This record gives sequence, C-alpha cells and structure tokens, in this order.
Amino acid sequence: MSFLRNLRTTIKFREVHLNPTQRRLARAANVEDLRKIARKRLPKGVFDYIDGAADTEWTMRENSSGFKRIAFRPRILRDVSNIETKTTLLGKTIDFPLVLAPTGFGRIAHSQGELAVARSADRANLPYTLSTLGTRSIEEVSAVSKGRKWFQVYVWKDRELLKEMLQRASVHGFEAIMITVDTPILGRRERDIRNGFTLPPKIGIDTLLSGMIRPGWVWDFLRAEPITFANVGGSHQGGDKSPIYLSEYINGQFDPSLSWSDVEWFQKHWKGPIILKGIQTVADAQLAAKAGVDAIALSNHGGRQLDYSPAMVDLVAPVADAVGDQVEIICDGGIRHGSDIVKAVALGARACMLGRPYLYALGAGGEAGVDFLLETLRRGFGDTLALTGTKKTSDLNRDIVHLRDHR
Ligand code: GLV
Repeated sequence: MSFLRNLRTTIKFREVHLNPTQRRLARAANVEDLRKIARKRLPKGVFDYIDGAADTEWTMRENSSGFKRIAFRPRILRDVSNIETKTTLLGKTIDFPLVLAPTGFGRIAHSQGELAVARSADRANLPYTLSTLGTRSIEEVSAVSKGRKWFQVYVWKDRELLKEMLQRASVHGFEAIMITVDTPILGRRERDIRNGFTLPPKIGIDTLLSGMIRPGWVWDFLRAEPITFANVGGSHQGGDKSPIYLSEYINGQFDPSLSWSDVEWFQKHWKGPIILKGIQTVADAQLAAKAGVDAIALSNHGGRQLDYSPAMVDLVAPVADAVGDQVEIICDGGIRHGSDIVKAVALGARACMLGRPYLYALGAGGEAGVDFLLETLRRGFGDTLALTGTKKTSDLNRDIVHLRDHR
C-alpha cells in the first residue's frame, strides 16, 4: 500500500490546456518544434516562402551549422546564483542580446502579423524592426508598441517615397533605421518559383486544397482585411487586387545602382542611429565603420540572397577585431537556441538578430507563439551563461568558446 501511495505521488499528468494554441505550444521545446507545427498549419506556399532560401539553400543551413561547430569551454564553481542577462544596444538597455529582424509580409503567417511581433518584443524589452515590406504600417505598429522600434529600409528608386517613410518613422517614435544593402536584386528562391508564390498568396486551387487540411490558417486569412504593403502608397503598394511575384516587384522598385553614396544620402535624411544590414566581409565592415554608421548587421539575409555566402557567426571574431571598437556588431542568421546567442556575443557581437523563428512562432501559435519563443530564447541564454560559469552578459569573452580559424 505504501508503495502504491508513493507511486501515486510520482504519477502526474501533463496539465490539460483547453485552449488549442496553448495545447500546441505546451508540446514545443525549441524553434524546430515551432517550425514543425507551423509546417502543419500553413499552406505549403506560405511555409516554403518563410522556410526557404536562395538556390541550393546551402547558406541557410550553413548559418546554423556555423554555431554547431563552436563548442564551449565551460568554467565551474563560480557561483551563478544571480545571472544578469541584460545588456545595452545603441546605448539603451535590453533584456538579453536579441533583436527581432525585419521580415516582409508578417500577415501571411498570422493575421495579427507585425502587430503581434511588435507587442511581444515590447513585453520582452527587445527592439523590433519593422520591414518596409511589412503588412502593417509604421502608424499601426507605433500605436501598439511603446517599446524600442527600428524601421528597415531598402534603397528604393523613388527617393521621395523613402523620404516620406523616414519622416513618418521619425514622427512615430522609431528610434533607428536599418538599411538593407544585400538586395540590389532579389535572390532566386527556387521553392517560390516552383510554387508560383505570389503576394498576397493567391487563393487558388492549390491553396484551397492545401488549406482543407489547414483550416485554421484559411479561416484566419479569409476573415482578415486584405494584405497589402502597408508602408508604401500609390503605385508602390502592390496588393490586394492583383497578386504579384516578389521578384518582379523588388526588381522594379529597388535601386540596383545602390552604392556607398546612398549611405551618405540616408545620413543626411535620418538624424537617429543607422544600422547597415547585409555586411558579409571584413573589408565591407571596415568601409561601414569608415562611413560612420552606428551598427552593422552581419547578415546574408538568412541565406535568401546570395547562396554560398559564409556562415555569419564565422565573421563575428574577425569583424570584431577589425572594427569592434568603432561600431556595434549584430550577428544575424542561424540563431536557433539561446546558446547560439552566447557564442556570438562571446566572439564579439553586441547582439544577435533573428527573423524566421518568429515567423514559425506566429504560424504555430500567433502572438502567444512569439511570447513563447522569446521566453524560450531568454531562458536558454541565461541558462547557458550559468552553465558556462558566466555571471553576466558583459563578462562574455572568447575564453568560453573554442575558436577555430575564422578567416
Ligand atoms: C524579403 O526581404 C525576403 O527575404 O523575402
């Protein structure tokens, strides 16, 4: 009997969640789990647009593999009862070293799209970057988040449109701009070509068939207002009436002649901090520092632009050695665990940035999914600090990682 009593106390059933979103998230432990849930819930074309990358997708895989090649050199017996994950970025405190990257078309993953992500980032005290190609506007995002907001811009051919967007971002409390410089033309995403993917997604026979086994997404999509490029007006809008192919849109609107003189143009028209996103070599990091930008994002656009661009984490140490005293370095691409953020910061990054994982999270569980993701990464980051014997983020240095030759 006493055996049974003891046994009884050890049998505890998993908490039953009545809310289906909570039920789904309760079974997830990491980004890959969110990805798998999103894959089941989103139509194939939408999932592939988010999940896919350019050409062979080698760079996308390599971004993550780069982290897998770095091991820790953990220290023990160092009293880690009080861990401090906070750090500063562009002079202000954030809860741990992470930035939410700009991603286009948030509302294809979930009708709340950018608003959900901005609110979640605000709660987590992390900066959120709204994409020029967002499906919620500067004004709408500003209305739901008093937190740190950055605005991402491409170099559009139409400079008047750009000026107008910068003006709106400034008026609506966006603190910094992030200029994406790796997209003179759009990378060739083979999955999108095969799927005939358009924006907004065409509700054709394929999507309907795919949607019959994904009724949650179809219901959410059909009830919401039409998806448009909410930040750009007039003939730039694309949108609800005629679905467009992203490559045609971008190759029509963006300026392939962009050069370092355009960075000067932005410096004239934007008074706050400027982050240059898309640096992929030490030489360009040096030019960016010389140009006087405040931060650089080492980024190959998640492997969506040039395939065979290297893993971004491999670039952190050499770039930090070259310009770490002049610009803040953000490492973008392949971050899937809190421990990846520890590695990049130990090598010399100020913070990491991620995009796809929050789109998986949105697809898997809407805003609750994004909350879950950010909390999982924050915990993973803090736990890795503790297990490597590091009391606070600012103590991180190369002693705790096995550094290969990064050149
Ligand atoms: C847009 O920036 C994309 O990568 O699809």
